[in-house]
Amino acid sequence: MSITPSLSRRLDGLQSSAIRDLLKLTERPEVIGLAGGLPDEQLMPRDRIALAAEAALADRSRLQYTQSAGWGPLREVLATRESVRLRRAVPIEEVFVTHGSQQALSLLGEVLLDPGALVVVEDPAYVGALQVFRAAGARIVAVPLDAEGMRTDALSELLERGERPAVVHTVSNFHNPRGVTMSPGRRRELAYLADRYGFWVIEDDPYGELWFDNPSPEPVAIYSPNVIRLSSASKILAPSLRAGWMVAPNAVCRGVELLKQGADLCGSALTQQITAELLADTDWLGAHVDKIRRIYGERAGALVGAIRERFGDRVVSSEAGGGMFVWAEFADGTDTAELLPRAVDHGVAYVPGSAFAVSTDYRTAMRLCFTTSEAPVLREAVDRLACAIDA
Ligand SMILES: Cc1ncc(COP(=O)(O)O)c(C=O)c1O
Repeated sequence: MSITPSLSRRLDGLQSSAIRDLLKLTERPEVIGLAGGLPDEQLMPRDRIALAAEAALADRSRLQYTQSAGWGPLREVLATRESVRLRRAVPIEEVFVTHGSQQALSLLGEVLLDPGALVVVEDPAYVGALQVFRAAGARIVAVPLDAEGMRTDALSELLERGERPAVVHTVSNFHNPRGVTMSPGRRRELAYLADRYGFWVIEDDPYGELWFDNPSPEPVAIYSPNVIRLSSASKILAPSLRAGWMVAPNAVCRGVELLKQGADLCGSALTQQITAELLADTDWLGAHVDKIRRIYGERAGALVGAIRERFGDRVVSSEAGGGMFVWAEFADGTDTAELLPRAVDHGVAYVPGSAFAVSTDYRTAMRLCFTTSEAPVLREAVDRLACAIDA
């Protein structure tokens, strides 16, 4: 008889993302999928990536291991870009390349948090961040979001009550899943609180460049040295490059470096050179990102328009000024988790709000992703949703 060895206690209470499990059920060709959070692969610059890959492969050293902090020329390109965004000269030591921004979150979870440390997240929350903070054994407290992003007044109350977070996580632009962007006033307030009480802010910003009409406000990181800024090439180029980056004080970058050595030694020099070439080609990149903005903007407008036309006051939806998601809440108490199987039978899938819930249940809310369907398909999806509700 063999005795089965046990798994670590860190796994207790961790669950697979409800969204990932749900996506498996909705991957039927007849179902219009508004559940996934994927960028449109038709808009990913395959031919440009192929050219850059060929150029990269001309140098055999691109097949070699590279530095843990990232391939030097990519860090330089990123330092230049982030210097513009942050309105200061960002030194290369403060730029760290990760395997997507998700790895930055995961490594930061280890660098910044001791078990039991308090982490403040937004409610509803980005599920990938919740997974990281739970795995780190953090105590998680949520503050709500409204149309202006994180309710910094609620955070302030929490701090006045004596709570002392180690980290506050925010998706400052075009929130996943809530769709909102933090106002400039709230950004300043959050930075002020971070300085006053001495906590880290993780400003998780993969969507900031995907604005439709008005550019995103200046990053929270402009206002305080306690803000660690994460961004990514996933939504503007392609997720398979797995190129994310962090701008953080040197001590944080060195901590992340030690852990990254243990996690995967280094990222891929090959995809990092491709990413560097595309990001450095600013004329091409500008036109490419403009095209994504225009197409996603049309799709977002079609989806929000159809929801308002079909449901009127029954549904309150976010404005969709950028990013990839619309958050819609039924004012009439419709339970979106209960509705989902019927919606899938009628050929449309979404993610129920409860999948992102921390303290509030968001039973009547849903996240809809507009990136991978064209406008007529999105209108059809809303019709199918209405039929499912009436059925
Ligand atoms: C808020 C947020 N942060 C981070 C990520 C991770 O993106 P990546 O690891 O591809 O850069 C995502 C992906 O959807 C996201 O929505």
